[in-house]
Amino acid sequence: MSQGSDPQTRPARKVFIKTYGCQMNVYDSQRMGDALGAEGYEATERVEEADLVLLNTCHIREKAAEKIYSELGRIRVLKTEREAAGLGSLRVGITGCVAQAEGAEIIARAPVVDLVIGPQTYHRLPDALRRVDGGERVVDTDYAVDSKFDHLPKSTDRQIRSRGVSAFLTVQEGCDKFCTFCVVPYTRGAEVSRARAAILKEARELAEAGVREVTLLGQNVNAWGPDEGGLASLLHDLAAIPGLARLRYTTSHPLDMDEALIRTHGELRQLMPYLHLPVQSGSDRILKAMNRRHTAADYLAILDRIRAVRPDIALSGDFIVGFPGESDEDFEATLRLVREVSYAAAYTFKYSPRPGTPGATMDGHVPEDVKTERLDRLQALIREQQVAFQESFVGRRCEVLIEKVGRHPGQMIGRSPFLLPVVVPASAGAVGDIVEVSISETRPNSLMAAGAEPPAMPATVSMAASSPPLARKIA
Ligand code: SAH
Ligand code: SF4
Ligand code: F3S
Repeated sequence: MSQGSDPQTRPARKVFIKTYGCQMNVYDSQRMGDALGAEGYEATERVEEADLVLLNTCHIREKAAEKIYSELGRIRVLKTEREAAGLGSLRVGITGCVAQAEGAEIIARAPVVDLVIGPQTYHRLPDALRRVDGGERVVDTDYAVDSKFDHLPKSTDRQIRSRGVSAFLTVQEGCDKFCTFCVVPYTRGAEVSRARAAILKEARELAEAGVREVTLLGQNVNAWGPDEGGLASLLHDLAAIPGLARLRYTTSHPLDMDEALIRTHGELRQLMPYLHLPVQSGSDRILKAMNRRHTAADYLAILDRIRAVRPDIALSGDFIVGFPGESDEDFEATLRLVREVSYAAAYTFKYSPRPGTPGATMDGHVPEDVKTERLDRLQALIREQQVAFQESFVGRRCEVLIEKVGRHPGQMIGRSPFLLPVVVPASAGAVGDIVEVSISETRPNSLMAAGAEPPAMPATVSMAASSPPLARKIA
């Protein structure tokens, strides 16, 4: 760091970071941006004014990976224009899972790229940039033994506050499960847990900067800390931090939903009643071919146990349609499982063969039109469940964490415990408050609290003195 640019004397260079893929990439982008801030870079939302562009990439499906190369085509034009205008050179870096999977191939295929850094070595980014300044093209896709998070500079209060009252915190990375469709074990490496002390320190810093809700992240977050008492014990420690009112965790694997974690859903009021627990398929034959190592009945039994301790829990899941060998009957089993569970939300994907995964070379690839038809049917069913879930709130009271001002005057936007955005009247409270409101209607992807509807009458008409309060501040 000592030989870095001096932010006091140089005009700030600007960095544009574009994030693809999962929330772990979102968190990584934040940490990289914060680290570059310490090196004198300023974040920009406008790629045209950037001195450095980072694409934090995702390799999970073919489309996700291919997007990067079309984006690089646009960046190449920008770079040429900028250099022709004498504005200096534009540095281009690829980070994330495509970087890990393709490494030096990226530089060969896209000469515009100066730098390729895998997800395990972001703490070496400032150094790599200095090498690029010296004329090198850098590829660093090692699996570093030491955690990048412990070597990245800590985010400042101002950086944390700029992101609002809800924050991500990565506690676990990598995957040992090797589902036969999935690239993650190859791009993110083996399961590694961050140390409890480092997590609690970061969570305290978040809370002190005004964060009210923390979502713990991991490719297999519920595999956290096998030697440290498991995720349940970490959640209990986090719940004791003053100011942290809400905890969530994602993404979980059914095999790691242990008894203590299930019980925690009934024990901690800070743990929100919403669980993302992917199952992928409802057919045991396909689950076996996917190497998920559980049956549909095992999955349903886990949900029963969670519902026994937390009856109002809302569930979401991930589904893949058209895995090799999936018959109409297998697909019907998925629909049956979805009907049985009744999801608040779910993510659905067409199977995308990924190079290097066992699924890619299996027999029985499903034609594209069949995948499309199955996806449409599954999405229609899930949409129905989602609408029913949202409508079940109308006329009920609901706790909302206020996150930001709304699009219309007089409105604020918050989130229910079940992750649904809720539009509340500005009079309900300030950003960071948790208030109880009454839900009056649903919108396509949000709920509307009484008093937040755009005024139908002149705004000066006052509420009748006997009206019940529209919102009650509770934390
Ligand atoms: N670790 C998480 C999810 C990782 S990826 C878990 O185990 O559930 C997020 C989702 O992408 C997966 O749950 C799966 O539904 C989907 N996915 C992964 N690989 C895919 C592929 N090759 N084709 C289609 N969808 C895929
Ligand atoms: Fe991929 Fe399976 Fe690991 Fe999830 S558990 S990241 S789907 S290999
Ligand atoms: Fe994509 Fe990597 Fe996340 S492949 S889903 S960005 S772990």
